[in-house]
Amino acid sequence: MNSKKILLIEDDPTLRNAIEAFLIKQGYELRVYDNVSKAMKEVGPDCHLILSDVMMPGLTGYDLLGYVRKHFPTIPVILMTGYGTIEKAVEAMKNGAYDFLIKPFSLNVLEMALKSAFLDFPHDLPGETKNTEKYPTAQIKASDRFLASNIKMKEILSNLRRIAQSKATVLIQGESGTGKELIAQMIHEFSPRANRIFVAINCAAMPDTLLESELFGHEKGSFTGAVARQIGKFELSNNGTILLDEISEMSLSMQTKLLRVLQECEIYRVGGTQPVPLNLRVICTTNRDLHQYTKQGNFREDLYYRINVIPITLPPLRERGDDVLFMAREMINEFSILHARKSPELDESAKQKILSHPWVGNVRELRNAMERAVLVGSFDVIENGAILLPNEKTNRISQGPAADYVEPGLSLAEIEKRVILTTLDRFHGNRTKTANELGISLRTLRNKLKTYGVAGDSMSGKLDAI
Ligand SMILES: Nc1ncnc2c1ncn2[C@@H]1O[C@H](COP(=O)(O)OP(=O)(O)OP(=O)(O)O)[C@@H](O)[C@H]1O
Ligand SMILES: [Mg+2]
Repeated sequence: MNSKKILLIEDDPTLRNAIEAFLIKQGYELRVYDNVSKAMKEVGPDCHLILSDVMMPGLTGYDLLGYVRKHFPTIPVILMTGYGTIEKAVEAMKNGAYDFLIKPFSLNVLEMALKSAFLDFPHDLPGETKNTEKYPTAQIKASDRFLASNIKMKEILSNLRRIAQSKATVLIQGESGTGKELIAQMIHEFSPRANRIFVAINCAAMPDTLLESELFGHEKGSFTGAVARQIGKFELSNNGTILLDEISEMSLSMQTKLLRVLQECEIYRVGGTQPVPLNLRVICTTNRDLHQYTKQGNFREDLYYRINVIPITLPPLRERGDDVLFMAREMINEFSILHARKSPELDESAKQKILSHPWVGNVRELRNAMERAVLVGSFDVIENGAILLPNEKTNRISQGPAADYVEPGLSLAEIEKRVILTTLDRFHGNRTKTANELGISLRTLRNKLKTYGVAGDSMSGKLDAI
């Protein structure tokens, strides 16, 4: 006996009976209604989940959602909807629905949605010990690293907590360095899955076949070199959150495979014949205008709508007004502590320089510039000369790349180091782009940077995904 009480509201008797029979067989305790007003009277703290149709005569599933969110905020609501009403269902997710199922759906998908909801909202655990599996985070929490004084950014932040409660897929768009990965980590931290795993994978960093194997895993012997069964990132992130970074860079054939995963809540390992059921919270990021990219035929439209349930667009730093100064000061404090220095002030000339620079590399570029400023500036005050900007560097480089890298007497290793660091500068600290440009793997780049003492996040600020 499951002992979970579910309220089912559906006006179509055929579907209602089918779901009822299935759920009773699964051991759930069911209360069944054909309209919202009757169901509303029965919602109470002893109810564990609400599964409701959207369009019904009289009050709708949205009315029920509003009522439940207001009076019983800890009861998850799953909506069932036909294709014509998807847009509204998406709106409902933003208003706190836990999940929505698009009719017709398989009983498999229904079962997965319920399991996932009960895992994220385990009502029967006394004293709120939400998740038992613990994945300790090695680093400072993303929400503690997040800086914002700008109104647009604060609004995004306040929405994050609400968004985090649902299982809806989030699409984070924004220029490189605007903080997409940081926001993705925060959604995970605010979500009921916070104590479970967060897995990030960069879809741009590897060729198709490798990406497929990384995501789906493979069975022993499925290809040359597959000497043992390997669990993929999807399976690894089961019950947690997976971040598909730079999703736009997935090939069309991988997009088709991903769509299947999102629709069916299950995967097949490469070379496998048994489906593996999965409970995933998916977050995607891109620095392209994905809608435009879709219209141009580079991205599957159906997948775009699947992942764009909750869109978040991060404004570039140059559109965040005074935020740039606020962040610069905070970063100077942070790096001063890191480098065991007294925290210097920014003088007027430095402030003007920061305010007038376009920061095309966004927060990442600002971080790099502030770390340098702390290292080269005086202990008391940072003047504009301590803030090195790319156009100034370009002038230097335009004397000719060779002149910039090679001087008589330099060792090969030193020349290599200069080439790598200059390229990293040119891409505002973006390691993926730097590695691509130099034709080396991300891993090699990371190892080299480590040997140069360019500490992981403090220089590039980028948590590379592989
Ligand atoms: N609001 C913020 N407050 C503090 N640090 C931030 C903020 N936004 C971004 N950062 C920092 O800036 C750096 C770049 O952020 P992040 O990697 O999240 O960007 P991104 O949008 O994913 O970039 P890309 O598209 O290049 O992958 C990181 O070090 C991150 O911690
Ligand atoms: Mg990123």
